[in-house]
Amino acid sequence: MKVFREGAPLQVFLSKKHNNQNLGFVPTMGALHKGHLSLIKQAKKDNKVVVVSIFVNPTQFNNQDDLDKYPRTLNADIEALKGVHCDIVFVPNVNEIYPGEEASNDFNFSGLEKVMEGKYRPGHFNGVATVVKRFFEIVKPTNAYFGEKDYQQLLIIKKMVSDLKIPVNIISCPIFRESSGLAMSSRNERLSDQYRKKAVVIYKSLQKIKADLNNKSLDELYEEIHSKFKKLPFIDLEYFIIADADTLDKAETIDANKRYRAFIAAYVEGVRLIDNIALQ
Ligand code: PAF
Repeated sequence: MKVFREGAPLQVFLSKKHNNQNLGFVPTMGALHKGHLSLIKQAKKDNKVVVVSIFVNPTQFNNQDDLDKYPRTLNADIEALKGVHCDIVFVPNVNEIYPGEEASNDFNFSGLEKVMEGKYRPGHFNGVATVVKRFFEIVKPTNAYFGEKDYQQLLIIKKMVSDLKIPVNIISCPIFRESSGLAMSSRNERLSDQYRKKAVVIYKSLQKIKADLNNKSLDELYEEIHSKFKKLPFIDLEYFIIADADTLDKAETIDANKRYRAFIAAYVEGVRLIDNIALQ
């Protein structure tokens, strides 16, 4: 496995050795867990060569404390990547990604960025799109892999790629879960064992919504979740929403011809956790 810290030698290597053909790319912020590794395994199946980037992107954090606390575990990450036979790791520094000002560009996501994560983390998706676009320019992948845990991010990246006509296929991969059902996240490491177990209530609630969708009204489902979370002292619900899976508009009714997903963001021990489920 080769490790590159600069874009220029990586580009030379990719074009000389691989002619930028059949190249899989998995962007990450490190602190790799089995969810990331599942993306890399899928990328290995689909491509001749797989590049993984590790870069904690400052412009997508709207909270300095969250950025400071984001786990940085480079040595362990490199070992984990060797374990899944990753071919190339790209670990750029900030100047490489932001040669001028450390700032994000403004994108038009047609409202996709206004709800859920976008509402509670202003500027987050401009930061994500800026860094992903920059990585696409450097790596020029054929296929790029994103997990459905960050479902809103996935839609936003697809929109950016289609609007800017970036020649890359965006491949979405299912949410990878701990054995309890808790969605895998680098943030789970910050939870105590006791609360990591309790945090599974997020997934259990999403499953219950899915099971009840045909028997209850949307108002009843919202009421059920809000009153349930109010009674749980260890968890602060930030949002619960049932939304159109393509536009992310809040569902007013359930139309059999459309796809919907339920989304939750909640804090446990001060750690922000998100999860979602397809409802049909
Ligand atoms: O999903 C993430 O880990 C990040 O948002 C990404 C896509 C690596 C961009 O920094």
